Amino acid sequence: MMKCCCPILVTGGAGFIGSNFVLQWIGLGGRVVNLDLLTYAGNPANLATLENDPRHRMVAGDICDAELVGTLLREHRPRAIVHFAAESHVDRSIAAPDAFIRTNVHGTFTLLEQARIYWSGLDEAEKGAFRFLHVSTDEVYGSLAAEDAAFSETTAYAPNSPYAATKAASDHLARAYFHTYGLPVLTTNCSNNYGPFQFPEKLIPLMILNALEGKRLPVYGDGANVRDWLYVEDHCAAIRTVLEKGRLGETYNIGGNSERANLDVVTAICGVVDELRPNAAMGPRSKLIQFVQDRPGHDRRYAIDASKIGRELAWQPKVRFEDGLRQTVTWYLEHTDWVESVRTGAYRDWIRQNYDERTSQ
Ligand code: NAD
Ligand code: DAU
Repeated sequence: MMKCCCPILVTGGAGFIGSNFVLQWIGLGGRVVNLDLLTYAGNPANLATLENDPRHRMVAGDICDAELVGTLLREHRPRAIVHFAAESHVDRSIAAPDAFIRTNVHGTFTLLEQARIYWSGLDEAEKGAFRFLHVSTDEVYGSLAAEDAAFSETTAYAPNSPYAATKAASDHLARAYFHTYGLPVLTTNCSNNYGPFQFPEKLIPLMILNALEGKRLPVYGDGANVRDWLYVEDHCAAIRTVLEKGRLGETYNIGGNSERANLDVVTAICGVVDELRPNAAMGPRSKLIQFVQDRPGHDRRYAIDASKIGRELAWQPKVRFEDGLRQTVTWYLEHTDWVESVRTGAYRDWIRQNYDERTSQ
């Protein structure tokens, strides 16, 4: 019989959301085997507080490596897999989609297949207790017009970027493994996260650091694209809730009820940075905003209808966007060592590649 002291296998647990999840899970008394390839987005420093903690076992490895995944499952006998590992940045998927196909599609397939083999060999009680939770995104649903209803679990898939297409493919594989093999799969589709440990290629941390340093704030297109922001700890709590109480084979949309236009988000960041790090010589940071060439295929609006998870599993977001944003700005201002450790040569190359040729609009 699988005991509740069994570990869980987390993939991508050195990335932004994964590391927040691992820290919370261990804080709540759990154990984690953490399989992460430690790509540019995976950072062991996120988990520095767990160094020498026997409840956390870091394994630097690839979810596409079937032998490694199979061995980890047999050796550690996890009671669940929580699958975060992915290539996650839309702009990089436009510049170089290959890695997205490999990790998000082939990697998810490898993990599902190894999970199926492991799960098939468990006794009936263990089989009943096992869960495979696939962490996905609202981007699989495509783009909404201003007047459209928010995405629900029955919205048709319409991915528009290579990233979204690979996540959609992985969602379909996860679904197929439930319907075909009975693997106890749960899928979550979440909106934009923000908070500590987010790699500064994404909108919010990039703008915080640029604003702090007086660099231009490159807003794509007209800045009216809308995202539904969720504080990362709320997302992690939702994942735990689905893991514990979710109905097998179901998908759950997770969102923050915090739709904001990008320009409003960047302006709000400027306000908080001005307040926390006033710089008279620089003047108001909002003067640094520049509208630049748009992202190709840029989805106009995302909005999540999270009523299913609220109704069935009693989960609600707790952190108001304005509070979460202030906490996040404060975290980046206070963690300069972490910031410097992630801004490597490869990071600077990416920033040059993505922004140097984006002319002002
Ligand atoms: P991230 O890019 O910060 O982290 C991804 C992690 O996966 C990194 O630690 C990386 O090293 C690891 N990884 C990449 N390829 C791997 C491979 N082949 N094998 C093992 N590990 C590998 O991503 P994130 O923002 O934390 O997102 C985590 C998950 O949540 C992703 O599946 C993403 O699609 C999903 N998601 C993200 C958001 C968001 O706003 N960030 C919202 C909804 C869903
Ligand atoms: O919706 C969930 C998704 O949210 C996740 O699945 C993705 O992994 C995550 O990266 C995020 O995708 P987005 O493309 O929405 O996030 P990003 O931070 O890249 O951009 C947010 C918005 O800000 C988007 O409309 C593009 C815009 N933007 C982004 C950057 C990096 C800018 O205007 N300027 C920028 O420099």
